[in-house]
Amino acid sequence: MKQYDVIIIGAGAAGLMCAKTAAKRGKTVAIIEHTRKIGEKIRISGGGRCNFTNLYCSPKNFLSENPHFCKSALSRYTQHDFIAEVKAHGIPYHEKTYEEKTGNQNARGQLFCDRSALDIIDLLRDDFTQAGGVFHLETKIHDLHKEGDLFRLATDQGAFACAALVIATGGLSIPKIGATNFAYETAKRFGLSIVTPAPALVPLTFAPELLEKTQALAGVAVDAQVRSGDGDFREGTLFTHRGVSGPAILQISSYWREGEPVTINLTPDLDIFSALKNARNRTPKKQIRTILSEFLPARLSIFIEAIGAENARIADLSDSKLQRIAETVQSLNVTPNGTEGYRTAEVTRGGVNTSEISSKTFEAKTVQGLYFIGEALDVTGHLGGHNFQWAWSSGYCAGVAV
Ligand code: FDA
Repeated sequence: MKQYDVIIIGAGAAGLMCAKTAAKRGKTVAIIEHTRKIGEKIRISGGGRCNFTNLYCSPKNFLSENPHFCKSALSRYTQHDFIAEVKAHGIPYHEKTYEEKTGNQNARGQLFCDRSALDIIDLLRDDFTQAGGVFHLETKIHDLHKEGDLFRLATDQGAFACAALVIATGGLSIPKIGATNFAYETAKRFGLSIVTPAPALVPLTFAPELLEKTQALAGVAVDAQVRSGDGDFREGTLFTHRGVSGPAILQISSYWREGEPVTINLTPDLDIFSALKNARNRTPKKQIRTILSEFLPARLSIFIEAIGAENARIADLSDSKLQRIAETVQSLNVTPNGTEGYRTAEVTRGGVNTSEISSKTFEAKTVQGLYFIGEALDVTGHLGGHNFQWAWSSGYCAGVAV
């Protein structure tokens, strides 16, 4: 039997951060990972460059049934703490300031590696192994229980025991690179509750009738204001063959609930009603379709077909018709029929209920020695580096507590 002070299950962002922090404190630490590789999501993130944090990260960037839960960890290990580690390891990085396709400025603050996401994985792995930490890769856990003060694990690589057990197995997104429901099953086994998980930061899909109308728009990208539920984002929106995607839609997917509409303002910087009235005075003979193409990608004028005015000269359109066109362009309501699911979702919203976990140590309130960190918890960040910051912050705080 192999015995350690601390065993961390899951070699992802949160697990690696927790592991190196605990190992540097002199604890004997092992990470058990069921796949062959560590940090796979780090490797594929940010187009291979890993958007590892956000300069403006704050509790406002997170969703949870308990919005206060994330505050303590985010203030004890901040984006600036992680940036200091990146600098200390000599990793070159840059800030993304705008979205190339749409010119949207809301990408500000997102920090990416100049070279490769592998730099971040190397940082975490090297710190951990230099502090004496041990990896047990390709190790499948068959059984897990607590006996007295010790957790006992039965695996296909033999038996393990530890006094502190950290569950860092993440959420359900991208099962093909290793996501499992291990955290939720473990939480339930120890009597903790779960906030129903769902795919988030995920493209939204349309039913065939709506898709028939929007199919011709596939590939069109606009800088749009998108709203649903409590969410409101001004970022790029992309029409696809399945529905809508792009940063604004990924963001809103975390707030969207089945059956609810998503409202898209295709010209957020412009009072389009006034602009159309001015155009009617200036160029009365022009078709409304031509006028609209001055303000938004030409193919989007498809939405005014519903109003039956697409071939009309602007001079022939009354104020109330122009008003309806303006409303369509600025409050386009679409009701998705679902999401692309865990296959493409960047994260899982929901997870282990934070009311059962200490926000300072990440230990379960009712099970001494059992910790949950990272995406496994009901804490979901906005797009833009916030989810990794949550992994670093929660991992660090558990790492100093175990
Ligand atoms: P994570 O999922 O990283 O790690 C969990 C680990 O546990 C994995 O290694 C898994 O194999 C292992 N595991 C699972 N079940 C197990 C079991 N039963 N036994 C043993 N091991 C088990 N965020 C961000 O801030 N910036 C970005 O640029 C991106 N980009 C991005 C792109 C893509 C394509 C995805 C899918 C996600 C992102 N994200 C992101 C989100 C980010 O990757 C995510 O929030 C963090 O990786 C979560 O870290 P965790 O350590 O909690 O889980």
